[in-house]
Amino acid sequence: MAKHDMHGNKSRALAAFFAALILTTNASAQDRQIEQKVDALLKQMTLEEKVGQLHQLSGRDLTGPANNRNTNILAEIRKGKIGSMLNVRGVAETREVQAAALQSRLKIPLLFSLDVIHGYKTIFPIPLAEAASWDLPAIEQSAQVAAKEAAASGIHWTFAPMVDISRDPRWGRVMEGAGEDTYLGSQIARARVLGFQGKKLGGTDAVMATAKHFAAYGAAIAGRDYNAVDMSEHQLWEIYLPPFKAAVDAGVATFMNSFNTLNGIPATGSAYLQRDILKGVWKYQGFIVSDWASIAEMVKHGYAADISDAAQKAINAGSDMDMEGFAYSSSLVQLVKSGKVKTALLDDAVRRILYKKFELGLFDDPYRFSDAKREQDALNDPSHRLIARDVARKSLVLLKNDKQTLPLNKAVKSIAVIGPLANARRDLEGGWIVKSDAAQVVSLLDGIRSHVAKDTEVIFSPGCDVACTTTDGFAAAMAAADKADTVLLVLGESWDMSGEAKSRTDLGLPGLQTQLFEAVRLKGKPVTVVIMAGRPLVFNTVADQATAVLYTWFAGSEGGNAIADVLFGDYNPSGKLPMTFPRSVGQIPISYDTYETGRPVQDVKNVVYKSAYIDTPNTPRYAFGHGLSYTDFSYSNLSFSHKNMQPGSTVTVSFDLRNTGKRDGEEVVQLYLRDPVASIVRPVKQLKGFHKIKLVAGEQKRVSFTIDQAMLSFYDSKLTWIAEPGKFIIMLGSASDDIRLSGELQLLDKQK
Ligand code: NOJ
Repeated sequence: MAKHDMHGNKSRALAAFFAALILTTNASAQDRQIEQKVDALLKQMTLEEKVGQLHQLSGRDLTGPANNRNTNILAEIRKGKIGSMLNVRGVAETREVQAAALQSRLKIPLLFSLDVIHGYKTIFPIPLAEAASWDLPAIEQSAQVAAKEAAASGIHWTFAPMVDISRDPRWGRVMEGAGEDTYLGSQIARARVLGFQGKKLGGTDAVMATAKHFAAYGAAIAGRDYNAVDMSEHQLWEIYLPPFKAAVDAGVATFMNSFNTLNGIPATGSAYLQRDILKGVWKYQGFIVSDWASIAEMVKHGYAADISDAAQKAINAGSDMDMEGFAYSSSLVQLVKSGKVKTALLDDAVRRILYKKFELGLFDDPYRFSDAKREQDALNDPSHRLIARDVARKSLVLLKNDKQTLPLNKAVKSIAVIGPLANARRDLEGGWIVKSDAAQVVSLLDGIRSHVAKDTEVIFSPGCDVACTTTDGFAAAMAAADKADTVLLVLGESWDMSGEAKSRTDLGLPGLQTQLFEAVRLKGKPVTVVIMAGRPLVFNTVADQATAVLYTWFAGSEGGNAIADVLFGDYNPSGKLPMTFPRSVGQIPISYDTYETGRPVQDVKNVVYKSAYIDTPNTPRYAFGHGLSYTDFSYSNLSFSHKNMQPGSTVTVSFDLRNTGKRDGEEVVQLYLRDPVASIVRPVKQLKGFHKIKLVAGEQKRVSFTIDQAMLSFYDSKLTWIAEPGKFIIMLGSASDDIRLSGELQLLDKQK
């Protein structure tokens, strides 16, 4: 039988369920009080009321003029047939809808949920952008502000963070995650959960978080959204599950399952994922919400015969709440009456949901999150924009900077600002926004105008729109370039080209944007290209020929200011890529932590019978971890506290990091590790640690990492979590392809 250290033995679904029931032994006094209240309430509930708690609906038009209201949903709420609403937001609206719930027999309050993915009113950079900051406190703070604004507007629960690892930029939802790496993704999962939830649930400036989508959604075959996933158990445990485990460890209140099948079984119907792993081995006490209609969709998958069969399979597998699927609301009562679903299973799901409602304090005051004064204050707090600007500038990645073109001189005589995204506002917000006002977004053109000297001439010419289907505007753009001393060309995707259901097969700059670049470049001026996008794009011509390239993702409400801060040197860029940028779509899926082959390429000029492409190098365009600064950092004097490591002990690795340039700056120091010979082959390198370190010009600091046995461990062929004695290679560097120092360590055998 497979063994997992942190996970224990795999077990059958129901065995795990009953084991989980006795997990309350070391509950705190407050937990026990809540449990007693939940039990007392459960005893009073009819079967229909219990099923009602498991039913989540999306609500629009529930309030406002009486003749426009969706009275059916309100009537169901009054009957206690709905446990949670999504997409109801704002103090006035949530109060009105909550009032309906309080007219139900048991007056059980509703949970209001919403996709607050990267901000509520103040929009922060898209999550993939924030991941590029590698700045955990900044990421936590951004989630905290989003939670504060949402919570003040009556929201109890956000469907974030998405912690899906993905190595496939065709998949539009990479914009919502933390990129390709398990370690970085796990750290960010933790930071986001802590940011959204605060230290303890129940604060009115925090919301419940959701770790989604459980599991492996980011590995959709061919990068097509909602597609099947087929992967080894080994990959699942090693690459895709750890960020979810990190979210559990950070205390995440809820989980969302996923649309995809995993090795033939829809995640929503997977007892292995939900009961065995999550609620069993990981002892998870929160509840699991389905993804939108994912229970009902099991019929289309060919896994359930009809909606009742789907409901039965989902509840047995551990899905607690049905989002907008009508499977539980239509079938569960009958399934329990007929004995096909055990009352104990239903009760367990209801208990988990009621527990959270008590924890949030909703039984004491169902309106405690819906406070008009707090809403007014939180949505107009000027500090939120400053925080958004700060995290945005930390998220930008300088990919190229020939001849130190950047930073630009603020006193330049004239600057041409060209391109379809130069004056964009809505696009800077990216996908998944709720309450923001695009008119309040700072465009890059605004940002530039407010940074340059009074007498600098800013010449704006869009060239084309984002789709860029015609060259009609090119002549004007070229004329602008001709007149100016320096050119800024702002290219990329529109906001709605990434996100859910936005997979692409062509990752090039849209339409004729590359031709626009070539046309503008003919004028012979230095061309700095700013690229806005929700994913890694493929832009070889620009990468080869532009003087400088700044990748800005979608940088949020303060995007224009943040980008201008970097372009003009008010902030020294410190972002590093959280995903590999391929040279060609044909290289995808791609990640830095690949395996060596028996036919590695030793000489790029001779790839015959080597593991290579005959038309493109194996290497990416820009590697995971890459990102330039306006200063330089040197790495030297590597030392190990011991070269031999006793099992269970730790080794400290240290080196000197020096800012050798003329500007203050921050470096993300990355620690990679390789186990060169093992019982199953290990990746060429894996990120195991990082520090973001600020150094003033000329400053030097000694930087240390502690290596413990967990960092040397992996799942072997029996899925046992193990560190095998022998040699390990420790690498320290500025990017996964820019290793500056390396050394070896021996993990000793127990006996020695
Ligand atoms: C479907 C998405 O997959 C999920 O992430 C989101 O939270 C729900 N829709 C609700 O909007």
